Amino acid sequence: MLLLCSLSQKSLRLLSCAVAFTLVFVCSGSESAEVIKSVEAGVAAEHEAFFNNSVLPILETHCFKCHAGEHQKGEFRLDQRSRLMTGSESGAVVNLDSPEESILLQAVRYDGYEMPPRGKLADSEIAIIEQWVSLGVPYPADRIGIVEEQKPEAIGAKVSDDERAFWSFRPIQDNVPPVGASHPVDAFIDQQLASKSVTAVGPASPRELIRR
Ligand code: HEC
Repeated sequence: MLLLCSLSQKSLRLLSCAVAFTLVFVCSGSESAEVIKSVEAGVAAEHEAFFNNSVLPILETHCFKCHAGEHQKGEFRLDQRSRLMTGSESGAVVNLDSPEESILLQAVRYDGYEMPPRGKLADSEIAIIEQWVSLGVPYPADRIGIVEEQKPEAIGAKVSDDERAFWSFRPIQDNVPPVGASHPVDAFIDQQLASKSVTAVGPASPRELIRR
């Protein structure tokens, strides 16, 4: 108390801030698992490292050839968290509320489903997938995800015929310059001037040229 009394008002305010912050932190601790489950972006750094170093190599080696990009066996893709959460043609494969019941785990354990089909993963690899699921399948958003080519129509962009006719989008043509001028480029310019009823002035003298 004596100590508190001797503190200035400013340090008291700081102290109460620190206490409040600690309380908030302690209270929210129990929800951190929920946060991990729901957050797609902003995956905690240690989970990102765990995914990149331990999970991703397994997925790349054993799963992506059938479940990534255009390879969607069972209509199931594993190369983005949102795809993983959408599940397969028969529905969700990850159960965040009861991770143990996840079909993904049954599949890698060869318990009802058998993935990868040609040979079970090593026990250590299965353990990594189990840990990954129990953490809420943290997946650095947009880190991998095989990007498909997107046509303008697919993202709602409309390209009009006028826009398509813009000169730089048209195929190169072999134009024959109009006759008349000594240089073919001048011939095109003369043609445009004539079409606008403009007469070209004569060539500039060296004196005029140097003053320009
Ligand atoms: C050689 C191709 C192939 C590989 C490699 C492969 N799968 Fe599959 N997977 C399939 C096929 C085909 C299906 C569709 C269901 C079936 O026919 O068994 C499927 C379905 C699944 C399903 C959905 C099961 C369901 O019915 O809902 C999960 C989950 C799954 N795979 C996980 C994995 C995981 C995890 C890996 C890597 C460890 C993996 N698969 C590797 C071919 C493959």
